[in-house]
Amino acid sequence: MRVDLLLGLQWGDEGKGKIVDVLTKKYDIIARFQGGPNAGHTLEFDGIKHVLHTIPSGIFHKKSLNLIGNGVVIDPVIFEKEIRNLEPYKIDLKTRLFISRKAHLILPTHRLLDAASELSKGKSKIGSTLKGIGPTYMDKTGRNGIRVGDIEMKNWLEKYRKLANKHEQLIKNLNVDLQYNLAELESEFFDSIETLNKIEFIDSENFIYDHLDNGNKILAEGAQGSLLDIDFGTYPYVTSSNTTAAGACTGLGIPPNKIKNVFGIFKAYTTRVGSGPFPTELFDRTGKKIASVGKEFGATTGRPRRCGWLDLVALKYAVKVNGVTNLMMMKGDVLSGLKKIKVCIKYNYNGKEISHYPFTLEDNLKPVYKELEGWNDDISQTQKYDDLPNTFLNYVKFLEKELKVPISIISVGPDRKQTIIC
Ligand code: GDP
Ligand code: IMO
Ligand code: MG
Repeated sequence: MRVDLLLGLQWGDEGKGKIVDVLTKKYDIIARFQGGPNAGHTLEFDGIKHVLHTIPSGIFHKKSLNLIGNGVVIDPVIFEKEIRNLEPYKIDLKTRLFISRKAHLILPTHRLLDAASELSKGKSKIGSTLKGIGPTYMDKTGRNGIRVGDIEMKNWLEKYRKLANKHEQLIKNLNVDLQYNLAELESEFFDSIETLNKIEFIDSENFIYDHLDNGNKILAEGAQGSLLDIDFGTYPYVTSSNTTAAGACTGLGIPPNKIKNVFGIFKAYTTRVGSGPFPTELFDRTGKKIASVGKEFGATTGRPRRCGWLDLVALKYAVKVNGVTNLMMMKGDVLSGLKKIKVCIKYNYNGKEISHYPFTLEDNLKPVYKELEGWNDDISQTQKYDDLPNTFLNYVKFLEKELKVPISIISVGPDRKQTIIC
């Protein structure tokens, strides 16, 4: 009886998709617990790169089942495109992919509302992926949402129209210049519902309990990262779900006492897409070099990711909030060739040094750095921990000591094979 969680500890894009794919062979079920198609999870193997938005990252393995949990919000239009991208791989989705009836649907007007809301905010916009995430979760908690299971009900079109009309009114009230053709968007939406209907809808919490009773192992896959959590992230520059460990309990119906390991993933540096504070952000040549070597462009929107040094204050906070039992460090290969590597160990906040993560990461907060030696070697083909350069290992050991959690996987490239199990 065991559930392990895997989640991002920074502002997303840590490499969750890659590691879920690497770990899938040890699990019977891979289950996404929150977020929606704002996520872009990249997997690389056999020279092909795959990007998943809604479908769990275990889908390429023949043995495991994949579940989209109740905490996820689904855009059928994007989901249909994902399904189409999988067609060449002849995966039997009818028996390998399941969707919770309690997952909420993203309607075309949710996407429009997202865009209208961002336009109305002007310079203080969140930098949303504009996938309708915020408005869909608002309708969920506001008790107006439409769930996947509603599609099976007689009155679902009535419900749909009522909610879409309400959204149109809200968009009007925002008084922004947003051009759209709802008839076109709706035609695409209803076409895609047919594809969604081909996948089995289930009461996923019971599915999970039955599998746990049978001794099966579940890996819960998080989306986004802890600093984008609606409660613990850099509010209001966050997403609209609980991206932290507790989100797996509500997003799948998993009782806390069934959780064993919590795998926390972080990059050897930090990135962020969209607006919001980022104390260790680099605006110099080093930042540009990290962005170009790390190919730091969003997997969902293609936007350039802002890059900076590792922020240990924020990372320690994320480790605590999630109860991380094992760390996984990604993209260390990207830092190869830098003479010195900096790590933020404290903040200077209003002239005082603090080592905790404060209520807000305002402008008057400056990082205090420790400098470590870099490594020159190309580590992207290294297979064994002991073959890694000493200065790289010193970096790893320094982080383990500070975070008080072992690093159990080191990733040195995007491919499945570029993974060192420590
Ligand atoms: P996710 O959202 O957490 O799944 O991460 P993304 O897929 O959005 O972004 C991670 C990016 O880094 C993808 O392009 C991956 O292929 C790539 N990647 C993952 N691990 C490594 C690594 O160790 N080294 C390098 N160079 N790239 C990596
Ligand atoms: P994965 O799962 C990185 C960011 C957006 C924006 C904020 C709110 O691939 O790590 P939203 O669309 O939720 O309204 O956007 O959150 N964001 C992500 N950044 N990775 C993600 O997912 C993200 N999902 C949302 O850029 O700043
Ligand atoms: Mg991503």
